[in-house]
This record gives sequence, structure tokens and C-alpha cells, in this order.
Amino acid sequence: MRIVKSVRGMQRLALRWKRASVRVGFVPTMGYLHAGHMSLVRRARRLVGPRGKVVVSIYVNPTQFGPGEDFSAYPRDLTKDAQACRREGVDALFAPTDAEMYPGDGRNQFSTYVTEQSLSRVMEGAARPTHFRGVTTVVVKLFNVALPDFAVFGAKDFQQSAVVRRMVRDLDIPVRIVVAPTYREPDGLAMSSRNKYLEGNLRAQAVVLWRAIQRVRVALRTRSRGVSAQQLKTDLKGFIDREPAARLDYVEFFDPETLRPMLKVTAGTHMALAVFIGQTRLIDNGRL
Ligand code: PAJ
Repeated sequence: MRIVKSVRGMQRLALRWKRASVRVGFVPTMGYLHAGHMSLVRRARRLVGPRGKVVVSIYVNPTQFGPGEDFSAYPRDLTKDAQACRREGVDALFAPTDAEMYPGDGRNQFSTYVTEQSLSRVMEGAARPTHFRGVTTVVVKLFNVALPDFAVFGAKDFQQSAVVRRMVRDLDIPVRIVVAPTYREPDGLAMSSRNKYLEGNLRAQAVVLWRAIQRVRVALRTRSRGVSAQQLKTDLKGFIDREPAARLDYVEFFDPETLRPMLKVTAGTHMALAVFIGQTRLIDNGRL
């Protein structure tokens, strides 16, 4: 496996593959890799076949963190991540520095951003106003560096995958976006690099996000005509408040294509929520 640190180096490698008609599958990440990330890597391998190439990027992207968020505390372990990628048969690991990704000095600062202006406004975008601008900008940059045929994203970040899909369509980017299912711990907690922050009894309380989704699924089983979103929101707030360290940030019920909120929740509606467990903000989602 090659470890590539420079934009130019990665582009050169990707162009060589492109000219040889080698298919490239790409998994962008911020590292501290877990089994959820590795499931995307396996999906990328299946998509490109044994003769194709799989590229993983590891870059903790500063532009998608807001002020006061956990950019500097975000867990990093490149040595361990590289081992995991090597074991999984990754062909190239792109791990650039901030200076490579956002060059500039003095008056010549980085100043070009890509913004999606519809799906980015709700949920995560409402709670973290500059987040998706950072995501779309870095994803376009990474696509321009790795030149993939396929890029695999996780359903764990459902809104992110919807925003990226929309951007790719709107800007005619020749990359096929594939969304892979959320990988979970045995108790249902969605795997996340941020789970590392959950010390002591916080880890046990974090399963409340998954339980909240299951709670709505159960409620819908006996209410085939649906339940009002407002009623469910009130119930879930109480349910989540029962965990001493948990605080609900938002819960939304929406159409999975448009992300438009649904007033009446039925089977097939999508649910997403963000909950603080102590200082750690976790998200989860699922189809009901
Ligand atoms: P990161 O949080 O590292 O996630 C990288 C990819 O792994 C994303 O597509 C995410 O949805 C997926 N993923 C995370 N946890 C998962 C799980 N439990 N099951 C399945 N997939 C999971 O998302 C980002 O990084 C960044 O925003 C990025 C797209 C790299 C841009 O900086």
C-alpha cells in the first residue's frame, strides 16, 4: 500500500490509473478508523473488482468544524489506521497535511468554497451552520485529487450522503456515489470515531439514540395510519431526558429524498436525531 501525503503525488498516481483504464473506488474519511469505515472499504473493493484500485483518504478537515467544536480534540492515529487499511488490501492511503489541502499565506488565503443550498439547511446544517460548506468543499477537492469512478459514503451520516449526491448531480461530477448501511456495535450504538470520547457510564447511555429509533418503529407497528411528528418528538424528548447525561439537540422526521419534514410519520419515513451525551454530540438515523 502506498501512503501519499501530497496532492500532486496522489493526482499523479490517480491519473496513471485513469490512463490505464483502471477503475478507482474511493472512501473519504477523517481517520481513527473503525469497523464502519472498513465496511465501506470492502464495498469499494467489491465495486471496482480485483483489478481496480481502492483509495482511502484520512484528513481531519478543519473547514467542516465550527468554532468551539472538537477539531483539535478529534482522535487521530495514522499508524494504526494505515495498518487497518493495509490489512484490508487498500492500494493507496491519501493523508495530506493542512498546508497541502488549504495552502495560502498572508493575502493569498484559500478562498473558494462549494455550497449546497437546500438539503444543507436543515438538521445538521441548522445545528452546525458552516459544516456542510466544509464537507462539500473538501469532498470536491478530494474527488479532484483521487479521480474516483465510485465513492462510498456511510448511511450513518445520512444527510451528508444526500448533500453529496445532490452536489454531484448539480455540478455534473463524474463520480458514482454509493451509500453503505450503518455499522453498529452489538447493543445498537452506531460506530463513530467520536465514541472514543464516551468514558465511564456515558458509553451505556449513548445507546439511547438507537433505542429512540427502535421506540418509534415499535410505536408505528400498531399505528398503521401513522403518528403525528409533534407527538413523537415530545415523547422522545422525555425518553431521552431519562438518561442523566443525555440532552436532545434535535429529532426530525422527513422524506429521505427531499429531507422535507413530515407532519405525519408512517412506515418509510426517515428519522434522524442528534443527542449530546455529556460533552459528546452523537447522531444517528434510520428508515422507519
Ligand atoms: P468520517 O466521520 O470519518 O466518516 C467517513 C465515512 O464513514 C462517511 O461516509 C461516514 O458516513 C462513514 N461512517 C462513519 N461511521 C459509520 C458507520 N458506523 N457505519 C457506516 N459508515 C460509517 O464523514 C466524514 O468523515 C467527513 O465528513 C468526510 C466525508 C470524510 C469529509 O471530510
